[in-house]
Amino acid sequence: MRLLNTAAALTVGAGSAGAASILLQGGTIVGFDKETDSLNVIRNGSILITSDRISAIYNDEDSSARNITHNDTEIIDVTNKIITPGFVDTHRHGWQTGFKTIGSNTSLAEYFTRYGEFAAAGKLSPDDVYLGQLAGLYEALNAGVTTTLDHAHHTWSNETAEAGLEASIDSGARVFWSYAFHNVTNYTVSEQLANFRNIAESGSFHGTATSLGVACDFFGPDPVLEDVHAVVDLAREFNVSVITTHSLAGPWGITNSPEDVHAVGALNTSIPVVFSHASFLTFRGASLLRSTNQHISITPESEMHYGHTHPHSHLIQDQGALGVDTHFTFSTDILTQARLWLQSTRRRLYSHVLDRWRIPTQTPMTANQAFLLATRNGGLALRRPDLGIIADGAKADLVIWDGDSPALLGWVDPVAAVILHASVGDIEHVLVDGKFVKKDGRIVAQDYPEIRRRFVQSARGIQETWKEMSFEALTGEFPESGASFEQPLKVDVLRGSESGYGTRFV
Ligand SMILES: *[C@@H]1O[C@H](CO)[C@@H](O)[C@H](O)[C@H]1NC(C)=O
Ligand SMILES: *[C@@H]1O[C@H](CO)[C@@H](O)[C@H](O)[C@H]1NC(C)=O
Ligand SMILES: *[C@@H]1O[C@H](CO)[C@@H](O)[C@H](O)[C@H]1NC(C)=O
Ligand SMILES: *[C@@H]1O[C@H](CO)[C@@H](O)[C@H](O)[C@H]1NC(C)=O
Ligand SMILES: *[C@@H]1O[C@H](CO)[C@@H](O)[C@H](O)[C@H]1NC(C)=O
Ligand SMILES: *[C@@H]1O[C@H](CO)[C@@H](O)[C@H](O)[C@H]1NC(C)=O
Ligand SMILES: *[C@@H]1O[C@H](CO)[C@@H](O)[C@H](O)[C@H]1NC(C)=O
Ligand SMILES: *[C@@H]1O[C@H](CO)[C@@H](O)[C@H](O)[C@H]1NC(C)=O
Ligand SMILES: *[C@@H]1O[C@H](CO)[C@@H](O)[C@H](O)[C@H]1NC(C)=O
Ligand SMILES: [Zn+2]
Repeated sequence: MRLLNTAAALTVGAGSAGAASILLQGGTIVGFDKETDSLNVIRNGSILITSDRISAIYNDEDSSARNITHNDTEIIDVTNKIITPGFVDTHRHGWQTGFKTIGSNTSLAEYFTRYGEFAAAGKLSPDDVYLGQLAGLYEALNAGVTTTLDHAHHTWSNETAEAGLEASIDSGARVFWSYAFHNVTNYTVSEQLANFRNIAESGSFHGTATSLGVACDFFGPDPVLEDVHAVVDLAREFNVSVITTHSLAGPWGITNSPEDVHAVGALNTSIPVVFSHASFLTFRGASLLRSTNQHISITPESEMHYGHTHPHSHLIQDQGALGVDTHFTFSTDILTQARLWLQSTRRRLYSHVLDRWRIPTQTPMTANQAFLLATRNGGLALRRPDLGIIADGAKADLVIWDGDSPALLGWVDPVAAVILHASVGDIEHVLVDGKFVKKDGRIVAQDYPEIRRRFVQSARGIQETWKEMSFEALTGEFPESGASFEQPLKVDVLRGSESGYGTRFV
């Protein structure tokens, strides 16, 4: 056990312990109608949660809701509040929390030399991984992100690997913790395979909201087939919850494309595959995603911050979901991702018309679509139709928004209110598996103050190490692909100044 008080972390549902069911009474519910495949707003409605699932949804004409007076049901008044499904983040690296704010100006090429899995190997202890992962997941839960697909590339040793899994379990979040196989110093792929097998067989995550997935970035180009097959066979043997990969084609040359994954027989199976970024996806790749029902994870802020970009992602949103990626550099919440994606997609498609000196009429994308991308599509990407929706039988992963907050006051459309006006500060309660993980604006976990203290101490250590690290000059060619480096136009906000580019305050 990593912590003296791990047991406390596991009782995240303490706030509702004792009640077998919870009734959220009298709020506006953004439900999902499975018959029409669309959002379904229920005003003055109530949600009955039994154990980990939604067992009934009532509207105001439904008198049975008023009859729920059993003494084992905790009744929560949600008058004037909006209830949405929890957000689903389909791409994140939880361990990186300790880097917070130090990568504000980084580019992707620089990221690889400083902050990525290869650069960080050997520099973080198992405790650093545990605390970063746990603090990062509490940060996500606070922001209403109830499901996270974690591309866990802190697998530098048996101990750092296991620390990240343990933190995921302890967080109470729904984590698809995906063990990354990679060619890192001092820990061979065969050692990783043995460690994975050990973890899978130990079943330490059984009965928790965490499940075991696989992450792998060596599907292509030029895969070492022996390693790829070993990873794919293991994923099949243990029927993992997901396979995920970073897919960056075009000048990046780190393809891991649907074509690459299909070539090794891992695309058209019952295991979901999530392609993070899918920058420079080809038409054939998109067709494969549709015919095999696999998804991409669009990480709008990451792809703009670093410059991987997403030239075709708007054309494959039917097989798309949203992700945050490296939350140490920018927003941690899927709500911000949904808003950035909605508005930047609108801008992109408006421009196509304006570029021809014409005037756009209708909007190219709606708030409803952004809402679905942030919730249900994430569930579908993980082949979990019971995640990211509010409907009978769905998992009780829910977010309750303060409809009377200064930002929301006056709302009538709850979907527009959340997608275009709300912020993390408007989130009052969050539930995962029918248990409160955030209540009355606060993280419920009893050990949160202690974790916070220990995390800050760990982060300071990490930041000191990184402060000492010199920046590598990026000259010549990007090693992964051979594409030439080039300095983009630097803009300035101070007239006539050469120094307005500024510095980082680290
Ligand atoms: C909401 O529904 C309940 C019945 O379930 C009713 O008593 C109450 O007046 C309704 N409130 C509003 C604001 O319509
Ligand atoms: C609700 O309770 C009332 C009074 O106890 C009863 O008459 C009515 O049938 C109940 N309705 C439902 C739907 O259970
Ligand atoms: C409800 O309360 C009554 C009386 O206090 C008690 O007899 C009964 O066992 C309780 N039911 C449950 C399900 O807790
Ligand atoms: C970020 O800022 C540091 C100085 O704080 C600088 O050395 C580094 O090159 C910058 N990175 C990029 C990508 O501009
Ligand atoms: C690899 O192990 C050697 C020997 O223990 C150590 O000196 C080195 O720092 C390690 N490198 C990494 C990246 O872990
Ligand atoms: C792993 O990395 C080492 C050193 O960077 C390199 O020599 C080796 O070819 C790589 N192996 C694979 C399978 O990519
Ligand atoms: C890592 O775990 C594997 C599987 O349990 C084991 O075979 C191996 O010896 C461990 N490595 C170390 C360095 O402890
Ligand atoms: C694999 O796991 C999924 C749930 O993640 C389940 O639906 C499916 O039946 C399992 N398949 C096999 C072959 O066990
Ligand atoms: C996927 O497998 C199904 C049968 O299981 C087959 O009908 C379909 O053609 C396959 N798709 C591709 C792209 O291979
Ligand atoms: Zn990533």
